[in-house]
Amino acid sequence: MSVIEVKNLKRDYETSVGIFKREKKVVHAIKDISFEVGQGEIFGLLGPNGAGKTSTIKILTTLLAPTAGEARVLGCKCFGEEKELRKRINFIFGGERSLYWRLSAYDNLSYFCDLYQVPEKIKKKRIADLLDMVGLSDRAHYRVETFSKGMKQRLQIARGLVNNPEVLFLDEPTIGLDPVGAKTLRDIIKRLSGEGKTILLTTHYMQEADELCDRIAIINKGELYALNTSEKLKENMDSAVIEVDLDLLKEDTLYKLKALENVTAVSAASYNLGHKLKIDCRNPKKIIPLVSQQLSENQIKSIVMREATLEDVYLKIIGGDCSA
Ligand SMILES: Nc1ncnc2c1ncn2[C@@H]1O[C@H](COP(=O)(O)OP(=O)(O)O)[C@@H](O)[C@H]1O
Ligand SMILES: [Mg+2]
Repeated sequence: MSVIEVKNLKRDYETSVGIFKREKKVVHAIKDISFEVGQGEIFGLLGPNGAGKTSTIKILTTLLAPTAGEARVLGCKCFGEEKELRKRINFIFGGERSLYWRLSAYDNLSYFCDLYQVPEKIKKKRIADLLDMVGLSDRAHYRVETFSKGMKQRLQIARGLVNNPEVLFLDEPTIGLDPVGAKTLRDIIKRLSGEGKTILLTTHYMQEADELCDRIAIINKGELYALNTSEKLKENMDSAVIEVDLDLLKEDTLYKLKALENVTAVSAASYNLGHKLKIDCRNPKKIIPLVSQQLSENQIKSIVMREATLEDVYLKIIGGDCSA
């Protein structure tokens, strides 16, 4: 049985627009999304702003009612069986202020343990373990307002684990963190998954999604555009990228390259010291000599070929097709 089951999920928002003549407008935030997540899986939801990621997470965490369709977590209906479900899940919204800044780290966790009715017998040990896990043991009794952003975010993770949830939802958990803070968080997420917890997260960082997620769903405008492992998504692209550094870029070069068979897209960027060409293509080994031929007068400084990255996949699927 899947831990998360989403079937033909829809969610509309009714808003009013205009200042004098207010008109009702319906936003179809989630149009028809279906997916399943297995136990222990790290599942990534990727998509531009306004794609419907947060709405999906809010429905799955029982904070928002769906307009139509089905959403179940751990076999419980997210709308209808929320009381039973809430004990077994938790969520962390990146950058959110869900901590009490004037309380210490310890007192924050103690407060949230009480909310989740964690028995007194295990509360102390659980808080100590969580503080240790997120590297805040030595700061346990400092007020949160004295913490750096990374420390606050790590404490949020600890907060999200007070009830030892079976499923954890993370909405942009590493947003605004420095590289070390983000890495620490990613390591914690991997560890949790290793312990058998199921994790659904959203992120705008492609490398992060690639590193962490067992499977990735790319959504846009409330619809599912792709769903697979990162490896398969890249493989299905059937493409590679050739990157060329040039001193000189002639006007007709881009047209000539685009006209080559198996070249799917060409883009150029200019810098102080020259130009960079990005050539998306199939069968790169055949293409490289042709590209060199076309560019021979343009003084190639370097030419490299690389496999498609998750970012290439994302850009190809979403392209300029953003809703917000
Ligand atoms: N409370 C709300 N009222 C009206 N529209 C909303 C509300 N929340 C979200 N939306 C709209 O729903 C769409 C999806 O939003 P959201 O789920 O936050 O996307 P994401 O998290 O992918 O950026 C957007 O068009 C957004 O403007
Ligand atoms: Mg969001």
